[in-house]
Amino acid sequence: MSGTKTDKIRKHYDTVADTYDSHYDHHRGKTYHTHLSNHLMKALPEGGNLLDIGCGTGLFVEKYIKNGGTGTGLDISEGMVAKARRRCPDCEFLVGTGEKLPFSDSSFNAVSSVLVFSYVRDPVAMLAEVHRVLEPGGSVALLTLGKKLITRGIPSLYKIGEKIKIKHVVMKDFGEHYYNEKEMYSLFDNAGFSDVNVKWCSFAHIDMIDPIFTLATKVEPFVEKKVPQLAYNIFVSAKKTED
Ligand SMILES: C[S@@+](CC[C@H](N)C(=O)[O-])C[C@H]1O[C@@H](n2cnc3c(N)ncnc32)[C@H](O)[C@@H]1O
Repeated sequence: MSGTKTDKIRKHYDTVADTYDSHYDHHRGKTYHTHLSNHLMKALPEGGNLLDIGCGTGLFVEKYIKNGGTGTGLDISEGMVAKARRRCPDCEFLVGTGEKLPFSDSSFNAVSSVLVFSYVRDPVAMLAEVHRVLEPGGSVALLTLGKKLITRGIPSLYKIGEKIKIKHVVMKDFGEHYYNEKEMYSLFDNAGFSDVNVKWCSFAHIDMIDPIFTLATKVEPFVEKKVPQLAYNIFVSAKKTED
């Protein structure tokens, strides 16, 4: 993905910052985001010192600090960061990229990233930075759209959507990269993480109509465990080895 694509992502999120939350305000949006967040929460220390990369409007930071601890967010979009500051006035939010973190070594014991990694131009640089800013023994949990039969058509759909000007908070051609398990293991392993765990999650999609969404949430735990081929988000948790 070129620098131009990153600019396009930043401009897009600046433009949708005011309406982004409405996507997650209704029943399906809340259920979907809570489901994703729960996967991350289980892999992160409770009441820790969290950095959330690609924090958006601060949805995950808000959830994380409810159990105590501190939250810091970073995002390339100034508009999204402004919203996050309003949501969590006691937390620190900065504008910047996950590929070059403005924090000193061993600053956090938890790092999260929700629905961001597919956009990141240099994933190797981002994971090297995550490793650097984590304390030894600290945890990272990351979730993003994975490479699956079901997601393969999405980039073409985004391209068509953009051409015919469908207004949707994420409906744009950003040249995202969708990952499979092998790529994730290798990226985290090469970055020096231990206890790398990769799994699939999400079956109920926010854009499903209500009765189907409700049904999908009921079978979601079964799908995630027994039929992961049908889940479309890839989730990774890992640790920075203790000294
Ligand atoms: C789909 S939104 C997810 C926001 C938030 N994590 C959430 O769960 O609601 C993607 C976010 O990633 C941010 N982003 C994209 N590329 C980034 C990068 N390289 N570094 C930091 N943030 C990035 C965007 O500006 C946007 O706010």
